[in-house]
Amino acid sequence: MDHFELRNGELHAEDVPMARIADEFGTPVYIYSRATLERHARVFREALSGLEKPPHLAFAVKSNPNLAVLRVMQREGFGADVVSGGELARALAAGMPASDIVFSGVGKTGAELAMGLDKQIGQFNLESEEEGIELSEIAAGKGQTAACALRVNPDIDAGTHEKISTGKADNKFGVPIDLAVSMYLRLAEMPGLEMRGLAVHIGSQLSDLRPLEQAFEKIGALMQQIRNQGGTVTHVDLGGGLGVPYRAGEVMPSPAEYGAMVARVTKGWDVTLMFEPGRVIAGNAGVLLTRVVRVKRNGNRVPFVIVDAAMNDLARPALYGSWHDFDAVAPTGDRMVANIVGPICETGDTFATDRPTDALERGDLAIFRTAGAYGATMASSYNSRGFVAEVMVDGDKVASVADRILPAEITAAERVPEWLD
Ligand code: LLP
Repeated sequence: MDHFELRNGELHAEDVPMARIADEFGTPVYIYSRATLERHARVFREALSGLEKPPHLAFAVKSNPNLAVLRVMQREGFGADVVSGGELARALAAGMPASDIVFSGVGKTGAELAMGLDKQIGQFNLESEEEGIELSEIAAGKGQTAACALRVNPDIDAGTHEKISTGKADNKFGVPIDLAVSMYLRLAEMPGLEMRGLAVHIGSQLSDLRPLEQAFEKIGALMQQIRNQGGTVTHVDLGGGLGVPYRAGEVMPSPAEYGAMVARVTKGWDVTLMFEPGRVIAGNAGVLLTRVVRVKRNGNRVPFVIVDAAMNDLARPALYGSWHDFDAVAPTGDRMVANIVGPICETGDTFATDRPTDALERGDLAIFRTAGAYGATMASSYNSRGFVAEVMVDGDKVASVADRILPAEITAAERVPEWLD
């Protein structure tokens, strides 16, 4: 459920007419709904109320790193799952306690590991023995011990798009499950590490709970083996990955079904479970508002609706062939079939092909739905377009939460060396 609905024939973001947002902030612009973010955060927490111990919830910052979004999550009691020094700095800037921050990622640099130690974050999710050795050295040098989980690759096909699958043996993530026991026990001996747990994340936009369940069962068995050999496991991080509906009417496993499955599989584990949801919180809490530049009719062919948003603003359709529902802000009831495209000079800059849609004309406003996760965060300035603006609504209030970065501001960071004069 979200708060982007038609009222008196016009799309609103909560109580704010979208046309007003376009007038005030220009287009393209991402719109986030505070009420929707909060609702999703609460539904997720509630879905896990049947666990034996209160879980640790860490919002996946990569899905939407906007400071205002992070602040909403912080107020909902979420910590953060970060994958870079930049994300770590954002989570802290948004007021998240360092102890609630988990640092994931396969390529944390020495400088990033040191930053995590200096900020005294809650947990490092190690993705290799090499990383553990390096972290131990840095931590010991600072007289610290780093609380760590070992991310395990369970070799399970998540059944999602190959570019966002992370749990197959040939993916770069985690350590092979057959090597994990001995590696865990070796790392536990390192002076700068406190090995306290395991982590797993097999992919994103999962539409089926079974691969997750299989992965969690494998982690449970691994945990037992480690304990049998004298290792300590007090925390298990079950990652993120829950899919969301991108098309009206599409049914996805609900947070409640997910929570019930987790409670069943992890019964008796005697650990604090940790979660890293991103898309399920932020996905349907955001839309991308765009204006039609013109409609190009090539004789009898399917017309091109050319909008002012492009693949640099919302990369998912170009990158993964993803579907985003597309709706007019002021639908007349008339319909058309169109190719929805942006202005960028690549055929890949296509949001939808042969899409039945509301009839649109030059100057009309429309939205791409389910753009709150992996939207603005994946924007670029390709074709020397600026970085897209972001606003948040709260009831009848609306505020800029990220100003548009203009092409001139980007050019200002560039230099022509004097030897080219
Ligand atoms: N934890 C880890 C270790 C992850 O790698 C990810 C996502 C998450 C948590 C959050 O997963 P979520 O709950 O959002 O599914 N750009 C792609 C998605 C990439 C996801 C990367 N990892 C897309 O637009 O679909």
